[in-house]
Order: sequence, then C-alpha cells, then structure tokens
Amino acid sequence: MIANLQAHYGFTCMPFTASVPASSLFASAAHKEAVARLRWLISARGLGVLTGEVGAGKTGKAPCFYTADLIPQVEAALAAEADERNRNVILAIDESHMLTGDQLEAVRMITNHNLDSGSPLTVLLIGQPTLRRRLRVGDMAALDQRVQLRCVIPSPAVTAAEADGYLRAHLAHAGRSDTLFSDDAVRVIHSCARGMPRAINRLATTALLAACTAGKTIADESSARTAIAEDAAAATD
Ligand SMILES: Nc1ncnc2c1ncn2[C@@H]1O[C@H](COP(=O)(O)OP(=O)(O)OP(=O)(O)O)[C@@H](O)[C@H]1O
Ligand SMILES: [Mg+2]
Repeated sequence: MIANLQAHYGFTCMPFTASVPASSLFASAAHKEAVARLRWLISARGLGVLTGEVGAGKTGKAPCFYTADLIPQVEAALAAEADERNRNVILAIDESHMLTGDQLEAVRMITNHNLDSGSPLTVLLIGQPTLRRRLRVGDMAALDQRVQLRCVIPSPAVTAAEADGYLRAHLAHAGRSDTLFSDDAVRVIHSCARGMPRAINRLATTALLAACTAGKTIADESSARTAIAEDAAAATD
C-alpha cells in the first residue's frame, strides 16, 4: 500500500511522517514564535516550559535538542560538555507532564546548581497542557518561580491560511513541489483536523491513498471526505 503510494506519486520518502528534518519544517506563525522564544531562552540560559495539545508540534519544534533521562550524573555530564567543548547545553525533557514529583524536584536541583555556578545550561520542560497545572500546585512553587519562559503552542497550531503551505512543505520534503491537494481538499482536511499537525498528516496520507486508489493525480474534496470517513470508522472500531 505504502510502496504503491510512493510509486504512484514519485515520492522519495513518505511525506507526512515525523522524520522531517528541522530545516524542512513548515514555518507557521506559531512555529516561528516558539522558535524565537526558545532562542531567547537559550541565550538567557534559563528554565522554560513549552506546552501544547497532543500532536501540536512540540517535539517537532525541538528536534535538535537532546532528550535525557533524569539521572543524577546528568548535571556533571552537562557541565563538562559546556566547559570542555564550549557548547551551549540544553536539557530538553519531553513528555514532562509524566514526571513524578521526585523527578521534578531533581529538575529544580539542576536549575539551582545552574544559578549558583553560572554554568551555561538551558532546561526545557516540554509537555501537554497538564504540565502547566502541575507546576502551579503548591509544592512545585520553588520550581515554578524559576520558570523564565512559558511558551504555549496555540490550537490550531496551523491556521486555515497556512494549511496549504504546511501540506506543501511536507510534499516538498518527499520530492514533489507541485500541487497534490485541491483547495477544497486542503480546507476539508484542515477543518476536520482542527489545525493540528499530526491529525492533518494522518488525513493527508489517507486522502492521497484514496486518490491513488481512484486513479486520480491529485487528492480532491472527495478523496479528503473518504479519508475523514475512514478515520471516523477507525475511531469507532
Ligand atoms: N512546523 C511543522 N512543520 C512540519 N510538520 C510539523 C510541524 N509541527 C508538527 N509537524 C508534524 O506533526 C507531527 C506531530 O508533531 P509532534 O510529534 O511534535 O507533536 P507533539 O506536540 O510533540 O505531540 P505529543 O504531545 O503527542 O508528543 C510531527 O510528526 C510532524 O510531522
Ligand atoms: Mg511529542
């Protein structure tokens, strides 16, 4: 099925996957703002919290960061990296809404050390919106007070006006820079996915499959509606 799809459209790889390199990500307004604010955080070497709904693009935004397990040695290892190699060290902890109280306490200790020693470490907690509420609870106050940047990826992460550019960025990554979705298909997919990148990706792939099966060269509104119907059927399975 996937091989057929690649051959049918002449893709060099599957277009709507997570493997898009940072340089090929679509620069939506939400994306640009988050990147600018994260750059500021790195220059300020502070503690930041990046939140957004499931599939909004949080992990897509930070592909160049290391994700590390929170182990006691991490602090020493990061400091050595900074001193010996003169690198800007960023500790990005994805899925931070899953961290236990003890683990968040360990993050606090790391930022503590950071402040005291002036070591060039940026700590970024990335997670779903529950992370924000979690940090507001009383016993997290000491950590919450240290947060220098609170960045929320808005919903929709991709606006209706950006949807076409978003799809084209993914298609270009797979080697097609011409039109593969009709305007109606773009509108229908964006609206059903409520502007959330992961949902757009899924519907876009299924719409391309539907168009391929019907022997069409581009995904039109009917291909998009077939994709949405299949998605709805799968959800009730
Ligand atoms: N700016 C962007 N340009 C291109 N693709 C994007 C962009 N943002 C997100 N995506 C796509 O959306 C998919 C989902 O994004 P991502 O994995 O970052 O979501 P998330 O917010 O981390 O979700 P979760 O909370 O489930 O971890 C990615 O695989 C990527 O293909
Ligand atoms: Mg993620």
